[in-house]
Amino acid sequence: MEYSEAMEWLARRAGMELPQEETEEERRARAERDKALEVMKLAARFYFDNLKKPEGKPAIDYIRQRGLSESTVVEFGMGYSTDFTSLPDYFSKKGYDTKTLKNACLVSQNDEGRIIDFFGGRLIIPIINARDQVIGFGGRTLEKDRMPKYKNSAGTLLFDKRKTLFGINLIKKLQQAETVNDIILVEGYMDVISLRQAGIKNAVASMGTSLTVEQCKELRKYTNVVFVSYDGDAAGQMATWRSLDLLARAGLEVRVLTMPEGLDPDDTVKKEGREGYLLYKNAALPLIDFKLKSLSKRYNLNTADGKNKFANATLGILSALDPIAKDLYVKEVSKLSGLSAESIANSLSAELEKRARRAPVAETKKENAAQITDNNARIVAARFLLASVFSAKDYVKITDIKDEYFDFEPHKEIAAYVKKCIEKREPPKIGALFDFVEDKSEIERITEAMSSVPVSQAEDYYIKCIQTLEKSGLQKKKAELLEKIKISSDIKEQQLLKEELLKLIRR
Ligand code: CTP
Ligand code: MN
Repeated sequence: MEYSEAMEWLARRAGMELPQEETEEERRARAERDKALEVMKLAARFYFDNLKKPEGKPAIDYIRQRGLSESTVVEFGMGYSTDFTSLPDYFSKKGYDTKTLKNACLVSQNDEGRIIDFFGGRLIIPIINARDQVIGFGGRTLEKDRMPKYKNSAGTLLFDKRKTLFGINLIKKLQQAETVNDIILVEGYMDVISLRQAGIKNAVASMGTSLTVEQCKELRKYTNVVFVSYDGDAAGQMATWRSLDLLARAGLEVRVLTMPEGLDPDDTVKKEGREGYLLYKNAALPLIDFKLKSLSKRYNLNTADGKNKFANATLGILSALDPIAKDLYVKEVSKLSGLSAESIANSLSAELEKRARRAPVAETKKENAAQITDNNARIVAARFLLASVFSAKDYVKITDIKDEYFDFEPHKEIAAYVKKCIEKREPPKIGALFDFVEDKSEIERITEAMSSVPVSQAEDYYIKCIQTLEKSGLQKKKAELLEKIKISSDIKEQQLLKEELLKLIRR
């Protein structure tokens, strides 16, 4: 908690009024927040009570069919929105105005302009913060074919999905009762709910989207060890690797569960029980081991070519390790690939030397998704440049958007789009990227890039990014020319290339 938040919490716990000199503005903000909390609480109760009504039967059937017990439903405060009008009616009878409900994302306007329940007809899962306040809802369809499967509260005064972990309130409660040794991080609401029903109480969900720095920091308040338990197929994907790195960078010890293909924790615990799930948990691999193992699955290690490619692909992971770990993991790669530890160690030394020569300028290698890491200074710099463009920062100059700055495919596409917008004198919109950029996680990374730098330093950082791009761009051109000179057999051409290279060197 923030200091002021902690004071407030302690005061409330002690039944005291916190003496404070609030500015008028602060008072208004707090009143607005309290009002929002009030409607959320009322809505949660309203949805919950619906389960006891005859109209609640479809939800009760669904809950039964998913194997959820009554006490689980009560523990999570689950509920049901029977239809699209009961909730707005309920609130208007109580004298609440539409604006308050809209701000809380409880209602929306339909095509005919009528105010309807935002979660109409859905099973309701309250999202509760560490202070036991309902800040949002997730609503699941009962029908198989209705889309989207889940609707979540949009960003409100209370709810920011990127800062929220579903189930954190229960972790807090658990922490008061016993020592929490580790937390299991899952993707979905139902995973948390199902695990808890099976007696595994230390799970929280990131709610589908890829993990944010804020969520990692939140986790870090409660534990040092995180077991990542994503769907069988999701775990090996690049988007997941990024989440894993984010957790590690937040100072958490990361272990990764591997579950049967196509099953999520909810499915697994239902199928194999508490004990079965805990076996997967016990077998969870430390982050590096997990990465090496999933890399090894991408290559055919029965062929010499596959072994070689695999070993090369591991160099990026190995080179980031400290010397002792390096030694251990070289042996591990040797075991996985069947290549001798000596040859791997040699390749690794060569790789490290190459990196050292390039430092601090980033690698200019042809892009290869597996090799693109957030450490890659050029990509990070280009990303921040784009983030600044989309945030319409006044320090961005149109001329800063040079083709040669972008060598990562999604960045190329985005830069082209930005240029087109500038030509048409339209502001580029981040939302438009979802239509054509295939790698959606890169869009997220761009949106996150801005928040990774303090506002006061954004401009300085931006300038550094441009410098990095300039310098590494020059380096890249030099390297390319040198390469051309080497392979050229024509003396005249060589001469021209050499002159060009000299020009660059003198620049
Ligand atoms: N999610 C979402 N919107 C969607 C789909 C998913 O917000 N349209 C989020 C939800 O928080 C969901 C999580 O992503 O819990 C994981 O999605 P998924 O694996 O598809 O759902 P499950 O949790 O497995 O849900 P269920 O078992 O009910 O199908
Ligand atoms: Mn599921």
